[in-house]
Amino acid sequence: KRIAVFASGQGSNFQAIADAVREGKLDVSIELLVCDKPSAPVVERAKHAGVDAFVFKPKDYPSREAYETEIAEELRKRQVDLIVLAGYMRILTPTLVEPYYGRMINIHPSLLPSFPGINAIGQALEHGVKVTGVTVHFVDGGLDSGPIIAQTAVPLYEEDTEASLAKRIHEAEQKLYPYVIGLIAQEKVAIEGRKVIVKP
Ligand code: GRF
Repeated sequence: KRIAVFASGQGSNFQAIADAVREGKLDVSIELLVCDKPSAPVVERAKHAGVDAFVFKPKDYPSREAYETEIAEELRKRQVDLIVLAGYMRILTPTLVEPYYGRMINIHPSLLPSFPGINAIGQALEHGVKVTGVTVHFVDGGLDSGPIIAQTAVPLYEEDTEASLAKRIHEAEQKLYPYVIGLIAQEKVAIEGRKVIVKP
């Protein structure tokens, strides 16, 4: 598979994927990083990993569709067949969502459908749930609402702070995301409508 990673921030998931590829544990090629924040640490990580980056400022475009059209062109040029969202903090429009339905995945720091949207870790803490986790799902037109591929449960402890819980969640993400991308690369994940079938 030829993948593109979309990220806006730290890029710890980008790093986990790039490391798995470098170590020969994940058989995909990262063709492109797409980033909407020129100052984001993930841009530097891509440079170190030798991955091309399409970095843009949304302000420079008249609409979301305008920059997504440009992104779509970059993806087409590089023959990307899987989009991996890893902390990409922008709502996507049908310009990208429709052509890539079933070929675009996202990772979210909760057990969806609990706590969609921003600050899922803080929301879990506030609700006092005893178990939260991480979800990888296909992307549809809604907010964190697409068909679920895989989840990892993460316990919450009484002494947890947002920082300690975030650390545990991020560790779970960095294991789960390369694993799921590997399953997709091995054609072990199928989607029929909204039903996801993971083959053993
Ligand atoms: C992760 O917690 C991911 O689940 C969420 O955004 C965060 C990105 O972290 N969608 P990083 O940039 O990969 O370090």
